[in-house]
Amino acid sequence: MSKADRTTSVSKQTSCQTLTPGKHYDKIMSVSESDFNYIRELVLERSAIVLEDGKQYLVESRIGQVVETEGFDTIGQLVEALRKNSHNGLQSKVIEALTTNETSFFRDIHPFEILKDPVLPEILKSRENTKKLNIWCAASSSGQEPYSIAMLIRDHFPALLGWKTHFIASDISEKMLERCRSGKFSQLEVNRGLPAAFLVKYFEKNGATWSIKNQLREMIHFQQINLSMELPYLPKMDIIFLRNVLIYFDIETKKRILNQLRSILQPDGYLFLGAAESTINLDSSFERMNYKHSGCYRLKR
Ligand SMILES: C[S@@+](CC[C@H](N)C(=O)[O-])C[C@H]1O[C@@H](n2cnc3c(N)ncnc32)[C@H](O)[C@@H]1O
Repeated sequence: MSKADRTTSVSKQTSCQTLTPGKHYDKIMSVSESDFNYIRELVLERSAIVLEDGKQYLVESRIGQVVETEGFDTIGQLVEALRKNSHNGLQSKVIEALTTNETSFFRDIHPFEILKDPVLPEILKSRENTKKLNIWCAASSSGQEPYSIAMLIRDHFPALLGWKTHFIASDISEKMLERCRSGKFSQLEVNRGLPAAFLVKYFEKNGATWSIKNQLREMIHFQQINLSMELPYLPKMDIIFLRNVLIYFDIETKKRILNQLRSILQPDGYLFLGAAESTINLDSSFERMNYKHSGCYRLKR
């Protein structure tokens, strides 16, 4: 698990470094106990993200920015507007501000190695007759993860491009989905994990921005899905990536999500979780498949 994923590990000092110097943030940023409790109940109810005791600093730094952009003077005023529900879309902005969107191309590399061999070759063999492949990348953040999968497929399994493929990438955050759909990345983002050969092959440079080529963008359908709610209709999936998001939920929510995945995953499909996540003690219908450096999950037969 990366530092940024563990919000507990974000020190007060670090999280405040993003704020503009010279402004009176001490006054604006402080959150009262009752406002903190209101915000954490709202976030829990709407996204299932758990903000534990002691996370006031996180609310102060992240919500402080929403206070500014929405024209309030204090977090107290923002919470008052939330309570009255008087401000369109404010709830979503607060929830988006409190999600952690840390991601990178080919993050943790090993799951992508497993995907390349043996997962995709096995799927190519077992679906040879139907030539259908369904992939879901849940919690796709700004798009690096689904685009990594798309590049891997294009580069190593061109035969799959002729198949009937549903490739869905989803996130709770509309802001992140807009970023996914735009397929635009900064120099810093493409420097993280993306092989130079893929940058040259699959991206175009426009000023300071790298845009992923349309042939990649067109492979993926981006959709808003809140994992903590009942899932919308999705076709049965051969591969599900659900990485680095279960860590934000409580045990009951993790169990509920895995239970929903169980009915969506093909009986011989593959589930990829983050390095710090597992189905152990949550859902006994999954078993871990161990490979050299990493693993993934399949339904027990
Ligand atoms: C740390 S990022 C992980 C991104 C990517 N899967 C990876 O491993 O690099 C977590 C993502 O989960 C999303 N998220 C948080 N709560 C969610 C929920 N209830 N439903 C769907 N997505 C959620 C956040 O918006 C964020 O983009």
